[in-house]
Amino acid sequence: MSAPDKLAVFVSGEGSLLQFLADNQSGNNFEIVAVVTSRASAPAVQRAESLDLPVLIFDSSKVSELVDELSQQGAELIVLAGFLKKIPDSLTKAYSGRMINTHPSLLPKYGGKGMYGLNVHKAVLEAGDSETGCTTHFVTENYDEGEIILQQKVSVNENDSPESLQQRVKLAEQENLLETIKKVLQG
Ligand code: GRF
Repeated sequence: MSAPDKLAVFVSGEGSLLQFLADNQSGNNFEIVAVVTSRASAPAVQRAESLDLPVLIFDSSKVSELVDELSQQGAELIVLAGFLKKIPDSLTKAYSGRMINTHPSLLPKYGGKGMYGLNVHKAVLEAGDSETGCTTHFVTENYDEGEIILQQKVSVNENDSPESLQQRVKLAEQENLLETIKKVLQG
């Protein structure tokens, strides 16, 4: 088997997707070589530490140092898995076509500024939509606007709360993200 492909995972929140990716590394021939966070106190950072993954703190005034560090670690693909900071243009350029994001809606619906976490699921419920889902896409300089890679639908139940919907969408995101990573790495 060829050497595992190296990923950097960017996180700001709970890190459940990070955990899922870490649990699925060996079966899918990839390796997480760095976790980058915008929030040192995020639960995702504790997960990264307990997984023995190197953690880097994101500082938007030190992007070229971050790019150097990621290339030293050999990171071929950046995966944004619940990362809440705007990605500076110099980083999207350095990783053009090699940076992906997962978003908890069927883009282009419910994307853009302010559409993250429970806000997305509240908006879906308020609109009375009967289905939602998740989307992976390449990252460009504009929030949630890069080329869509894969989407998975999730139906909305009559008695859903934003929290229950979020939970089901996160589960759908796991498989959708894994399929996306395999697809992108295979070219
Ligand atoms: C996911 O729903 C992802 O789409 C969004 O943030 C959530 C991350 O969840 N951008 P977690 O921090 O991995 O639990």
